[in-house]
Amino acid sequence: MTAAEGSGTLGVEIWRGAEQGHFQTFAIPRRTHQTVLDVVTEVQREHDSTLSYRFACRVGMCGSCAMVVNGRPRWTCRTRVSEVAEDGRLRLEPLRNFAVVKDLAVEMTQFFDKWKEAKGSFEPGPEPKRDFAVVPPASKERQAADAGIECIGCGVCYSACDVVAWDEGYLGPAALNRAWTLVNDVRDRGQSDRLDAVSGGGGCQACHTHMSCTSFCPKAIAPTYAIAGLKRAMLMRSLRGAP
Ligand code: SF4
Ligand code: SF4
Ligand code: FES
Repeated sequence: MTAAEGSGTLGVEIWRGAEQGHFQTFAIPRRTHQTVLDVVTEVQREHDSTLSYRFACRVGMCGSCAMVVNGRPRWTCRTRVSEVAEDGRLRLEPLRNFAVVKDLAVEMTQFFDKWKEAKGSFEPGPEPKRDFAVVPPASKERQAADAGIECIGCGVCYSACDVVAWDEGYLGPAALNRAWTLVNDVRDRGQSDRLDAVSGGGGCQACHTHMSCTSFCPKAIAPTYAIAGLKRAMLMRSLRGAP
Protein backbone atom coordinates (compact mmCIF):
# COMPACT_ATOMS: atom_id res chain seq x y z
CA MET A 1 0.00 0.00 0.00
CA THR A 2 1.31 3.48 -0.87
CA ALA A 3 1.86 5.68 2.18
CA ALA A 4 -0.85 8.31 2.56
CA GLU A 5 0.08 11.69 1.13
CA GLY A 6 0.80 14.28 3.81
CA SER A 7 1.45 11.88 6.68
CA GLY A 8 4.00 9.28 7.74
CA THR A 9 7.62 8.85 6.76
CA LEU A 10 9.31 7.93 3.51
CA GLY A 11 12.29 5.59 3.41
CA VAL A 12 14.53 7.11 0.73
CA GLU A 13 17.51 5.20 -0.68
CA ILE A 14 19.87 7.43 -2.66
CA TRP A 15 22.89 6.43 -4.75
CA ARG A 16 26.10 7.92 -3.33
CA GLY A 17 29.37 7.93 -5.24
CA ALA A 18 30.13 7.70 -8.96
CA GLU A 19 30.43 4.47 -11.00
CA GLN A 20 31.36 2.77 -7.71
CA GLY A 21 29.23 3.63 -4.72
CA HIS A 22 26.44 2.51 -2.43
CA PHE A 23 22.89 3.40 -1.44
CA GLN A 24 22.39 5.57 1.62
CA THR A 25 19.02 5.60 3.38
CA PHE A 26 17.23 8.65 4.78
CA ALA A 27 13.90 8.99 6.61
CA ILE A 28 11.96 11.97 5.23
CA PRO A 29 8.50 13.14 6.36
CA ARG A 30 5.66 12.80 3.84
CA ARG A 31 4.18 16.15 2.85
CA THR A 32 1.13 17.12 0.85
CA HIS A 33 1.83 17.52 -2.90
CA GLN A 34 5.48 16.59 -2.28
CA THR A 35 7.51 15.93 -5.42
CA VAL A 36 10.50 13.61 -5.74
CA LEU A 37 12.68 16.69 -6.26
CA ASP A 38 11.30 18.14 -2.99
CA VAL A 39 12.49 14.98 -1.23
CA VAL A 40 16.00 15.20 -2.71
CA THR A 41 16.18 18.88 -1.79
CA GLU A 42 15.10 18.14 1.78
CA VAL A 43 17.78 15.44 2.09
CA GLN A 44 20.42 17.87 0.86
CA ARG A 45 19.30 20.79 3.03
CA GLU A 46 18.44 18.95 6.23
CA HIS A 47 20.54 15.77 6.27
CA ASP A 48 23.61 15.85 4.04
CA SER A 49 24.77 18.99 2.26
CA THR A 50 27.30 16.99 0.23
CA LEU A 51 24.56 15.29 -1.82
CA SER A 52 24.96 16.23 -5.51
CA TYR A 53 22.01 16.54 -7.91
CA ARG A 54 20.78 18.95 -10.57
CA PHE A 55 17.72 21.09 -11.02
CA ALA A 56 16.96 24.60 -12.19
CA CYS A 57 13.38 25.51 -13.08
CA ARG A 58 11.30 23.16 -10.87
CA VAL A 59 8.45 23.49 -13.37
CA GLY A 60 9.22 21.02 -16.16
CA MET A 61 11.02 23.46 -18.46
CA CYS A 62 14.78 23.00 -18.14
CA GLY A 63 15.20 19.22 -18.29
CA SER A 64 17.92 19.09 -15.65
CA CYS A 65 16.25 17.13 -12.81
CA ALA A 66 15.84 13.67 -14.37
CA MET A 67 16.80 10.60 -12.31
CA VAL A 68 15.87 6.94 -12.07
CA VAL A 69 13.02 6.72 -9.56
CA ASN A 70 12.09 3.24 -8.34
CA GLY A 71 13.67 1.74 -11.46
CA ARG A 72 12.26 4.09 -14.08
CA PRO A 73 13.70 7.32 -15.54
CA ARG A 74 11.54 10.37 -14.78
CA TRP A 75 11.64 14.14 -14.43
CA THR A 76 11.56 14.61 -10.68
CA CYS A 77 10.19 18.15 -10.34
CA ARG A 78 6.89 17.06 -11.90
CA THR A 79 6.69 13.62 -10.32
CA ARG A 80 4.61 13.49 -7.16
CA VAL A 81 5.80 11.10 -4.46
CA SER A 82 2.23 9.82 -4.18
CA GLU A 83 2.42 8.54 -7.80
CA VAL A 84 5.59 6.52 -7.36
CA ALA A 85 6.33 5.62 -3.73
CA GLU A 86 5.77 1.93 -3.37
CA ASP A 87 5.11 1.00 0.27
CA GLY A 88 6.38 4.45 1.28
CA ARG A 89 9.79 3.79 -0.27
CA LEU A 90 11.79 5.67 -2.89
CA ARG A 91 14.98 4.42 -4.53
CA LEU A 92 16.79 7.17 -6.44
CA GLU A 93 19.64 6.54 -8.88
CA PRO A 94 21.42 8.61 -11.52
CA LEU A 95 20.19 8.26 -15.11
CA ARG A 96 21.42 5.10 -16.85
CA ASN A 97 23.52 5.32 -20.03
CA PHE A 98 25.32 8.44 -18.73
CA ALA A 99 28.63 8.65 -16.87
CA VAL A 100 27.97 9.55 -13.23
CA VAL A 101 29.70 12.69 -12.00
CA LYS A 102 28.64 12.22 -8.39
CA ASP A 103 25.54 10.87 -6.62
CA LEU A 104 22.53 11.84 -8.79
CA ALA A 105 24.38 14.20 -11.16
CA VAL A 106 25.36 12.80 -14.56
CA GLU A 107 27.64 14.00 -17.34
CA MET A 108 25.52 15.24 -20.28
CA THR A 109 28.32 16.12 -22.73
CA GLN A 110 28.10 12.97 -24.86
CA PHE A 111 24.30 13.29 -25.04
CA PHE A 112 24.50 16.82 -26.47
CA ASP A 113 27.51 16.01 -28.67
CA LYS A 114 25.23 13.50 -30.37
CA TRP A 115 22.72 16.27 -31.15
CA LYS A 116 25.57 18.04 -32.98
CA GLU A 117 26.55 14.79 -34.70
CA ALA A 118 22.96 14.40 -35.92
CA LYS A 119 23.11 17.97 -37.35
CA GLY A 120 20.58 19.04 -34.76
CA SER A 121 20.91 22.78 -35.30
CA PHE A 122 19.13 24.96 -37.84
CA GLU A 123 21.04 25.52 -41.08
CA PRO A 124 19.89 28.75 -42.77
CA GLY A 125 21.96 28.29 -45.97
CA PRO A 126 24.18 30.91 -47.62
CA GLU A 127 21.44 33.43 -48.40
CA PRO A 128 18.68 33.25 -45.81
CA LYS A 129 15.58 35.36 -46.57
CA ARG A 130 15.30 38.52 -44.51
CA ASP A 131 11.49 38.29 -44.20
CA PHE A 132 9.80 36.04 -41.67
CA ALA A 133 8.93 32.70 -43.28
CA VAL A 134 5.24 31.84 -43.35
CA VAL A 135 4.80 28.17 -42.42
CA PRO A 136 1.10 27.25 -42.28
CA PRO A 137 0.33 25.56 -38.93
CA ALA A 138 -1.84 22.96 -40.67
CA SER A 139 0.83 21.89 -43.18
CA LYS A 140 2.13 18.31 -42.94
CA GLU A 141 5.71 19.48 -42.35
CA ARG A 142 4.76 21.96 -39.63
CA GLN A 143 2.67 19.34 -37.82
CA ALA A 144 5.53 16.84 -37.94
CA ALA A 145 8.03 19.42 -36.66
CA ASP A 146 5.70 20.65 -33.92
CA ALA A 147 5.17 17.08 -32.64
CA GLY A 148 8.80 16.90 -31.48
CA ILE A 149 9.76 20.51 -30.90
CA GLU A 150 8.96 20.69 -27.17
CA CYS A 151 11.86 18.42 -26.20
CA ILE A 152 13.56 19.77 -23.05
CA GLY A 153 16.72 17.65 -23.37
CA CYS A 154 16.10 15.83 -20.11
CA GLY A 155 17.76 12.56 -21.18
CA VAL A 156 14.92 10.33 -19.94
CA CYS A 157 14.52 8.68 -23.36
CA TYR A 158 18.28 8.19 -23.70
CA SER A 159 18.41 6.59 -20.27
CA ALA A 160 15.55 4.23 -21.20
CA CYS A 161 16.99 3.10 -24.55
CA ASP A 162 18.49 -0.41 -24.74
CA VAL A 163 20.30 0.34 -27.99
CA VAL A 164 22.16 3.23 -26.33
CA ALA A 165 23.17 0.79 -23.57
CA TRP A 166 24.50 -1.73 -26.09
CA ASP A 167 26.07 0.66 -28.60
CA GLU A 168 27.86 3.78 -27.41
CA GLY A 169 27.90 5.10 -30.96
CA TYR A 170 24.11 5.15 -31.33
CA LEU A 171 22.88 8.73 -31.62
CA GLY A 172 19.84 7.96 -29.48
CA PRO A 173 16.20 9.00 -29.46
CA ALA A 174 16.56 12.67 -28.49
CA ALA A 175 19.17 13.56 -31.11
CA LEU A 176 17.24 11.68 -33.81
CA ASN A 177 13.99 13.34 -32.76
CA ARG A 178 15.71 16.73 -33.06
CA ALA A 179 17.00 15.81 -36.52
CA TRP A 180 13.46 14.89 -37.59
CA THR A 181 12.02 18.24 -36.46
CA LEU A 182 14.63 19.94 -38.67
CA VAL A 183 14.04 17.60 -41.62
CA ASN A 184 10.49 18.96 -41.49
CA ASP A 185 11.55 22.59 -41.19
CA VAL A 186 10.86 24.02 -44.66
CA ARG A 187 13.26 26.94 -44.01
CA ASP A 188 16.27 24.69 -43.33
CA ARG A 189 18.93 24.24 -46.05
CA GLY A 190 20.99 21.47 -44.44
CA GLN A 191 18.88 18.42 -45.26
CA SER A 192 21.35 16.45 -47.33
CA ASP A 193 24.08 16.62 -44.67
CA ARG A 194 21.52 15.86 -41.96
CA LEU A 195 20.23 12.73 -43.68
CA ASP A 196 23.82 11.62 -44.22
CA ALA A 197 24.48 12.17 -40.51
CA VAL A 198 21.56 10.02 -39.35
CA SER A 199 22.03 7.23 -41.89
CA GLY A 200 25.37 5.84 -40.61
CA GLY A 201 25.92 2.88 -38.29
CA GLY A 202 24.85 4.86 -35.21
CA GLY A 203 21.86 6.39 -36.94
CA CYS A 204 18.17 5.68 -37.21
CA GLN A 205 18.52 2.16 -38.69
CA ALA A 206 19.90 0.96 -35.34
CA CYS A 207 16.61 1.65 -33.53
CA HIS A 208 14.72 -1.55 -32.72
CA THR A 209 11.40 0.31 -32.16
CA HIS A 210 10.66 -1.11 -28.72
CA MET A 211 9.23 2.31 -27.77
CA SER A 212 10.75 2.75 -24.29
CA CYS A 213 11.71 6.32 -25.25
CA THR A 214 8.16 7.10 -26.32
CA SER A 215 6.59 5.46 -23.26
CA PHE A 216 8.77 7.38 -20.81
CA CYS A 217 9.13 10.84 -22.39
CA PRO A 218 7.64 13.31 -19.89
CA LYS A 219 6.71 15.72 -22.70
CA ALA A 220 4.67 13.07 -24.55
CA ILE A 221 7.02 13.21 -27.53
CA ALA A 222 7.32 10.07 -29.66
CA PRO A 223 10.96 9.70 -30.77
CA THR A 224 10.10 6.25 -32.16
CA TYR A 225 7.83 7.88 -34.77
CA ALA A 226 10.43 10.56 -35.48
CA ILE A 227 12.99 7.81 -36.14
CA ALA A 228 10.52 6.00 -38.41
CA GLY A 229 10.10 9.31 -40.28
CA LEU A 230 13.86 9.56 -40.77
CA LYS A 231 13.93 6.02 -42.16
CA ARG A 232 11.18 6.98 -44.64
CA ALA A 233 13.02 10.16 -45.63
CA MET A 234 16.20 8.14 -46.28
CA LEU A 235 14.24 5.66 -48.40
CA MET A 236 12.60 8.43 -50.42
CA ARG A 237 15.99 10.01 -51.00
CA SER A 238 17.47 6.77 -52.28
CA LEU A 239 14.42 6.18 -54.54
CA ARG A 240 15.00 9.63 -56.03
CA GLY A 241 18.53 8.47 -56.84
CA ALA A 242 20.33 10.76 -54.41
CA PRO A 243 23.53 9.30 -52.87
S1 SF4 B 1 12.34 2.99 -29.96
FE1 SF4 B 1 14.46 3.15 -30.70
S2 SF4 B 1 15.26 5.03 -29.79
FE2 SF4 B 1 13.39 4.49 -28.67
S3 SF4 B 1 14.08 3.32 -26.88
FE3 SF4 B 1 13.64 1.84 -28.51
S4 SF4 B 1 15.59 1.55 -29.62
FE4 SF4 B 1 15.79 3.39 -28.36
S1 SF4 C 1 12.46 13.42 -26.25
FE1 SF4 C 1 11.37 13.57 -24.28
S2 SF4 C 1 12.50 12.21 -22.91
FE2 SF4 C 1 13.84 12.62 -24.66
S3 SF4 C 1 15.13 14.34 -24.02
FE3 SF4 C 1 13.33 15.18 -25.12
S4 SF4 C 1 11.81 15.63 -23.53
FE4 SF4 C 1 13.34 14.29 -22.59
S1 FES D 1 13.91 21.24 -12.60
FE1 FES D 1 13.62 21.92 -14.66
S2 FES D 1 12.56 20.23 -15.60
FE2 FES D 1 12.72 19.65 -13.51
